[in-house]
Amino acid sequence: MKRSQPIVAIDGPVGVGKSSVASKLADRLQFLYIDTGAMYRTVALKALRQGLDLDDRPAVARLADSIEIRLQRSGGLLKVFCDGEDVTEAIRTPEISAATSPAADNPQVRERLVSLQREMGRRGGVVMEGRDITTVVFPDAELQFYLDADPNVRARRRFLELMAKGKNVTFEQTLADLLERDRRDRERPVGALAVSDHATVIDTTDLDQDQVIQKLYDLVCSWKSE
Ligand code: DC
Repeated sequence: MKRSQPIVAIDGPVGVGKSSVASKLADRLQFLYIDTGAMYRTVALKALRQGLDLDDRPAVARLADSIEIRLQRSGGLLKVFCDGEDVTEAIRTPEISAATSPAADNPQVRERLVSLQREMGRRGGVVMEGRDITTVVFPDAELQFYLDADPNVRARRRFLELMAKGKNVTFEQTLADLLERDRRDRERPVGALAVSDHATVIDTTDLDQDQVIQKLYDLVCSWKSE
């Protein structure tokens, strides 16, 4: 079935600015914005709160099957609800970032979240970002992008963000953390970060956020006018 509005699928490594770009692009297109990383983070948060061992895959998978995750746009921001509770802030701590990798390595958790993501996006009119959107979730997405940037530049952007939030970190720590998360994302046995054959790769090393958004917006518009 042909969708009347396209699916815009965006993948890329940590710290490339996917979330901000995807969210602002969605606003501009008046599309739904779906941050799939927030969904993996929510599973990790719930697992920690319930005292589960994140390496106990069947238990974490059962949890992922039993919770309700809802993404809701409110005043230009994306709010994340789990079983009715607003967890938008709670899923953004360094502790949850670290706990999310093992949760995201769990094939049954991925199966459950991929199926939710397909349900959320199947009608089109969405911008969905993550690691496996162009390769697994919507390999048939009308528009597919892979955002990339030099690791030093990504670490620098992240470091400045953390400093602005008053976090006590060094650039070296930030870079080491980013390289480790890159490794985990690329080596994950299921849903690993990879460049799809159909994705347009955009190197954002020398571009600012507005330039990236404009580039994607123009490509979506030219697809629409074809
Ligand atoms: O994009 P993020 O940093 O919020 O993602 C959180 C974690 O979830 C990160 O470890 C990568 C993982 N993830 C994933 O495996 N697949 C996705 N589609 C999105 C995120």
